[in-house]
Amino acid sequence: MGGVVSPMNQSQFHRLFCNNQSPIHQSPITSLAILPAEALAKEGTTPPSNPINMIKTAVTRLPVIDLIKNRWSARAFSDQNLSEEHVLTLIEAASWAPSSINEQPWRYRYGLKGDPVFVQLWESLLIGNQPWAKNAAALVLCTAKKTFTKNGKPNRHAMHDTGMANAFLLLQATQMGFYGHIMAGYDPIKLRETFQLSEDEEDVCIIALGFLGTPDQLDEPFRTREITPRSRKAVEEFVLEN
Ligand SMILES: Cc1cc2nc3c(=O)[nH]c(=O)nc-3n(C[C@H](O)[C@H](O)[C@H](O)COP(=O)(O)O)c2cc1C
Repeated sequence: MGGVVSPMNQSQFHRLFCNNQSPIHQSPITSLAILPAEALAKEGTTPPSNPINMIKTAVTRLPVIDLIKNRWSARAFSDQNLSEEHVLTLIEAASWAPSSINEQPWRYRYGLKGDPVFVQLWESLLIGNQPWAKNAAALVLCTAKKTFTKNGKPNRHAMHDTGMANAFLLLQATQMGFYGHIMAGYDPIKLRETFQLSEDEEDVCIIALGFLGTPDQLDEPFRTREITPRSRKAVEEFVLEN
């Protein structure tokens, strides 16, 4: 299974995921609000205990929240599948990002492992990403609408807002115990042709999703990257004095 999320209307969503809800849950809006909590209850709300997380968890000087500290860009994915419900839950989380005049310029298409959209996305990736991304449980294409819907004028903040949505998406995945890895390493011309992107749609990234595997399933140089601690510039380097 796989597809483009934007055209899915609420009744389709409701049919897919909300068949066994009590009447109070049968309003599409209520169902949409309740789904993520149910998904979380199924998966547990903390990342799996894994020695690699000890290495990868951010070491911060100030008390940053755990969800941010625990997110990292994994490359070793297990063979555990993700469902459409998992992916749509992340995309709903993304949709709650703020955006300029609430334009919500982000667009998502996705494929679960083995389906045609997954294969098309994987084939668009560059050689630095294909070897490990083939084991992802899902691949997500993120694009941005470049103009405002209400007046057709350029939306200068479309990429900013779409990046913010992706940050929400990644944090939701962390909360649900699996991992997302954003990639810009793909062939944008091939991608545009494959998915027939319009002039008004800019490719932003492809996101690999999955549960965590083990570093030994990766070849070099990916294995070393998987066990290397994460680092960041000191805050002083990018907090500027006027
Ligand atoms: C826009 C963007 C493009 C990226 N492209 C790639 C990529 O093509 N391949 C890759 O392995 N990682 C890619 N990354 C992941 C970064 O390398 C990673 O986020 C960074 O090294 C920090 O590591 P962390 O996410 O584990 O904290 C990308 C990240 C972003 C935000």
